[in-house]
Amino acid sequence: MLLDTFGRQAVDLRVSLTDRCNLRCTYCMPEEGLQWLAKPDLLTDEEIVRLVTVAVRDLGVREVRFTGGEPLLRPGLVGIVAACAELEPRPELSLTTNGIGLARTATALRQAGLDRVNVSLDTLDADTFFTLTRRKRHQDVLDGLAAAEAAGLTPVKLNAVLMRGVNDHEAADLLDWCLQHGYELRFIEQMPLDAQHGWDRSSMVTAEEILGRLQDRFSLTPEPSSVRGAAPAERWLVEGGPASVGVIASVTRPFCRACDRTRLTADGQVRNCLFATGETDLRTALRSGGSDAEIGELWRAAMWGKKAGAGIDNPDFLQPERPMSAIGG
Ligand code: GTP
Ligand code: 5AD
Ligand code: SF4
Repeated sequence: MLLDTFGRQAVDLRVSLTDRCNLRCTYCMPEEGLQWLAKPDLLTDEEIVRLVTVAVRDLGVREVRFTGGEPLLRPGLVGIVAACAELEPRPELSLTTNGIGLARTATALRQAGLDRVNVSLDTLDADTFFTLTRRKRHQDVLDGLAAAEAAGLTPVKLNAVLMRGVNDHEAADLLDWCLQHGYELRFIEQMPLDAQHGWDRSSMVTAEEILGRLQDRFSLTPEPSSVRGAAPAERWLVEGGPASVGVIASVTRPFCRACDRTRLTADGQVRNCLFATGETDLRTALRSGGSDAEIGELWRAAMWGKKAGAGIDNPDFLQPERPMSAIGG
């Protein structure tokens, strides 16, 4: 088991398959992109499957989520999913994507064993999409969402980050649209994880503001707390339910006490927290002939050292060196 000194158990593994992305969201990375990881440093498909196998078979991981950068850019994605779907006990398999290319791959991913997808979409307006992502790919995302729903990668969840003066007026419209399409919408508070280190608390759109904007048009009631578990999203029933809307308030209402996550980067480092400032190298152990037992031991030790929380409000808070796009969110 992957335990820490605060009594938490990590059962949810997030695997970043690449740090590259085909968008340039302003809250994530600069126009020119970043210094990408070098190919030889990336885990191979086989190495990823080996580490996921150790996590599921020996360490108690029950859910595996593939992330990026943009995970659909990884050529071997369908094969990785298929191999993970054969593990015993069968983990739940999900993907967090910007949706570009999903129209082409949703059916193959479903057939390989993927259970569901979370798609990032911050706006319903093509021009605003361009302002936010610096790419003209809005329609590709809409097509990807529809394909995911049609392929049964459900419930399809939609992640939205609101930026003041850019798309924060769209909160209620986004919810309206998701209700019409049957997607589960979650708003995410912007976190200090951008490559440019430009995050500033005072310009962040808070959970409170988001809920205020939604309540101008909808009646919201808190979902019974028994449903939440370790999920980062707090959910509200819309007009009494069954539809709901979520807010992931990592900054103003941190949920670290219930955290059940462990993370693997595309170059084979374990991160015990999204905001960890240190990592544990599994790639070297893997490539120097380490046994599954040795790798499991390193992973357990990495999680044992997990801090109580992200500590964004602590005076000594340090933003991690690795940006969001290389951690996988
Ligand atoms: P579900 O299982 O569908 O609820 O997935 P999820 O919400 O955990 O995953 P997703 O990749 O869609 O992440 C949505 C947002 O939650 C992203 O902005 C993530 O960075 C954030 N998030 C995920 N895990 C953590 C975490 O452990 N801590 C914090 N602070 N944020 C997280
Ligand atoms: N803060 C909050 N969410 C972010 N995302 C990317 N960067 C940030 C940030 N700094 C979101 C993406 C995607 C999810 C994985 O994380 O929009 O929906
Ligand atoms: Fe790409 Fe996601 Fe970063 Fe946007 S937030 S640039 S989609 S990695």
